[in-house]
Amino acid sequence: MAATENPVEKLLSLKGEVASIPFPTDEKELDALRVKYLGKKGIVSLISQDMRSVPADQKPEAGRLLLEIRTAVENLVETSGAEIKRNRIRLEIENEFFDVTLPGTAPRFGAAHPISAVMDEIVDIFSGMGFQVEEGPEAESDLYNFEKLNFPPDHPARDMQDTFHLLGVDKILRTHTSPVQIRAMEKYGAPLAVIAPGKVYRCDADVTHSPMFHQIEGFVIDKKITMGDMKGTLQTFIHRLYGKDTKVRFRPSFFPFVEPGAEMDVSCVICGAKGCRVCKNSGWLEILGAGMIHPNVLSASGIDPNAWGGFAFGLGIERIAMLKYGVDDIRLFFENDMRFLRQF
Ligand code: DAH
Repeated sequence: MAATENPVEKLLSLKGEVASIPFPTDEKELDALRVKYLGKKGIVSLISQDMRSVPADQKPEAGRLLLEIRTAVENLVETSGAEIKRNRIRLEIENEFFDVTLPGTAPRFGAAHPISAVMDEIVDIFSGMGFQVEEGPEAESDLYNFEKLNFPPDHPARDMQDTFHLLGVDKILRTHTSPVQIRAMEKYGAPLAVIAPGKVYRCDADVTHSPMFHQIEGFVIDKKITMGDMKGTLQTFIHRLYGKDTKVRFRPSFFPFVEPGAEMDVSCVICGAKGCRVCKNSGWLEILGAGMIHPNVLSASGIDPNAWGGFAFGLGIERIAMLKYGVDDIRLFFENDMRFLRQF
């Protein structure tokens, strides 16, 4: 300020300047304003320090003006500060708006794989009839998979099973769950009733065959076991699985580990035995193999065939699941496509 300027006039012009300061619109402008006028080296502070040099007759007027100026700036800072804060909060609330009535994201529940579900159901039915659950190794020896089940080394029945041989070890991947019969008999002796679910492997792949699939083996050893026991047990099982109206029939068949051997059919659960594509218009579906346990099998497991007898049966889970759910390609079970699996 020029020394010649009249301090009161100078304060009057500053008062005018302050009155026309535009309203600050954000925190940055507000801060700049506060520093410019009210800061330690701000205009108002500098003038206060200069008051000593104001002539005594002008001091009251100058002091009053300076107070007015300071109050005006302070008011401006205060009101605009409050306004800026209000605006900021309003914006925050607007941006954070959420609709409490919107439905939430429902958690998606997992479910058992259809093969596991069918396997559990079958195991449950047999557990309910007093069978104990046993498991055996998937990497099995020739001895248990074939020899003790009465397949001689050069028996043509071995050709029926395309076997995976494991490299570097004297093991194969079991081709059926029947070796669990031997293992359980050796472990527990007689009498015995066992259900043995598990994975089996055959070098085979098309719409109804997968190189890995699941079987359930079952057998009963006791005194005076007859084919009537076998039929009653399997019929009860089918009635529980498919309903009481399902009929069963047995046809003679051959498996080295049973004598006599049979295959069991059920009346077609797809068409109600009227005849359809799945039962090839016969009204019947082949469902399992069964028979009276061969004396050689009992002997090979340390059980006296003259004192004990038994029946055994084996079935493929995939086939049951395909019939139950109307699936016509076995590979769908193993591709893990969630669109397929979520339907169960
Ligand atoms: N192990 C046979 C297979 O894989 C199924 C089978 C047939 C099991 C007759 C049995 C049986 O216990 O008695 O084809």
